[in-house]
Amino acid sequence: MNPIHLRWRVLILAAVVCLICPVFVVAADEPTLTKEQIRQFLLTAKVVHSQEAKKGITHTLRLTLSDGTITHDASFQPIDEHSFQKQLTSGTELNFVDSYKYNIAAYTLAEMLGIDNMLPVYVERKWGGKVGSLSWWLPVKMDEAERVQQKIAVPDADAWNNQMYKIRVFDQLVSDSDPNLTNVLIGENWQIWRIDFTRAFRLTKDLKEPAKNLVRCDRQLLEKLKALDANELTEKTKRYLSKDEVKSLMARRDKIVAYYQKLIAEKGEKEVLY
Ligand SMILES: Nc1ncnc2c1ncn2[C@@H]1O[C@H](COP(=O)(O)OP(=O)(O)OP(=O)(O)O)[C@@H](O)[C@H]1O
Ligand SMILES: [Mg+2]
Repeated sequence: MNPIHLRWRVLILAAVVCLICPVFVVAADEPTLTKEQIRQFLLTAKVVHSQEAKKGITHTLRLTLSDGTITHDASFQPIDEHSFQKQLTSGTELNFVDSYKYNIAAYTLAEMLGIDNMLPVYVERKWGGKVGSLSWWLPVKMDEAERVQQKIAVPDADAWNNQMYKIRVFDQLVSDSDPNLTNVLIGENWQIWRIDFTRAFRLTKDLKEPAKNLVRCDRQLLEKLKALDANELTEKTKRYLSKDEVKSLMARRDKIVAYYQKLIAEKGEKEVLY
């Protein structure tokens, strides 16, 4: 066959394949969407499939969404439990709340602190008669529980620790009563994501073992923490956090900042900040 004709045939065939097959997004081939495009996709794409998530205790759903061009999974978490008293393995918790709203609040807070690349985009969405949080499914190779259990060493300890220090600061700030290792997800290049904040935003004004949990701090994160404005946070999270939840968070913020300032005075900036 004439090579020019053959090239045309291949081109036409490729065009037809592109037209009839929507773009399927697989882990190794994440689409390069902006945060806003991801948000719009999560808010508007059609749910074409649902299955129960393989992990976790609250039976979240793994949904497959498609807008006709992009097909991608998302995690749907509709829990919104409020009880005066809850018996947990860690003890009894008063004024217990387990709510999808905190996932959305955590993402907004992470955006304000410039660390939203460490969380999946979370939006509010109604599905199957329930309102819940919906998060972009991440290209995860394992979670931290699996890594620890299988004793897999991280390839670059410094890069790993620099991410983990940020997660630990965030965990102290949001006061998560359930920061278990299945909520720390690991990507192909060993990037770390933190998910699942449904038991965060407790009303305590105290930090949890700061000497153990607050070791070093990213410079930019510390500056953003100092600049965190209660009014702006209240406004941006008004549908998801109560006034008392914001107040307690700001009190913990003050303590985190004071803790690092003391540590810097004792050890010197180079030892503490990076
Ligand atoms: N955005 C996401 N990308 C990839 N995997 C996710 C995502 N969201 C959730 N998962 C997976 O689904 C599991 C369950 O989700 P999630 O942690 O939100 O709820 P849960 O574990 O049931 O809640 P709890 O931790 O209170 O028991 C996670 O451990 C994780 O393996
Ligand atoms: Mg979880």
